[in-house]
Amino acid sequence: MAALMGKKVMVIGGSSGIGLGVVEAAARRGAKLVMVAISQERLEAAKTSLGAQANVETISADMTNKAEVARLFEEVGPFDHLVSTAGIPPPGSPIGETDIAEVSAFVDNKLLGALRLYRGARAL
Ligand SMILES: NC(=O)c1ccc[n+]([C@@H]2O[C@H](COP(=O)([O-])OP(=O)(O)OC[C@H]3O[C@@H](n4cnc5c(N)ncnc54)[C@H](OP(=O)(O)O)[C@@H]3O)[C@@H](O)[C@H]2O)c1
Repeated sequence: MAALMGKKVMVIGGSSGIGLGVVEAAARRGAKLVMVAISQERLEAAKTSLGAQANVETISADMTNKAEVARLFEEVGPFDHLVSTAGIPPPGSPIGETDIAEVSAFVDNKLLGALRLYRGARAL
């Protein structure tokens, strides 16, 4: 419980789903959250849902964009923990009907996105 008290925790994909669950759990344990996603509107809605007592900063950044990832880490500065749950669902069609562009967008988002985040964090 005390392990997260006062710690700065970045959650990429924090505005929704699993990421928002991580944000809620960490906020309850006294962490300072940096909630990151693409849509500023959804970030604000998620922040409102957490209540005024939660210590949450929101930043819009797209992890498929190298420059945005660099800007994100510059803006955040030093932090204690980085969690990424961000992603889009994998293509669901049978393999013979799967659109290659859809597969490519999925890989660029979820897999290469995680790699960009790791590199951005290492560059600090
Ligand atoms: N929920 C499940 O049961 C489950 C099970 C297995 C796997 N997964 C996978 O886990 C991932 C997260 O699932 P979820 O249910 O939490 O999804 P979700 O509710 O759709 O949330 C996705 C989050 O990721 C953000 N995001 C997406 N692309 C981004 C990008 N390029 N840069 C920055 N943020 C981005 C979204 O922000 P915006 O809304 O602003 O785009 C949102 O905050 C997905 O890839 C999903 O396929 C989920």
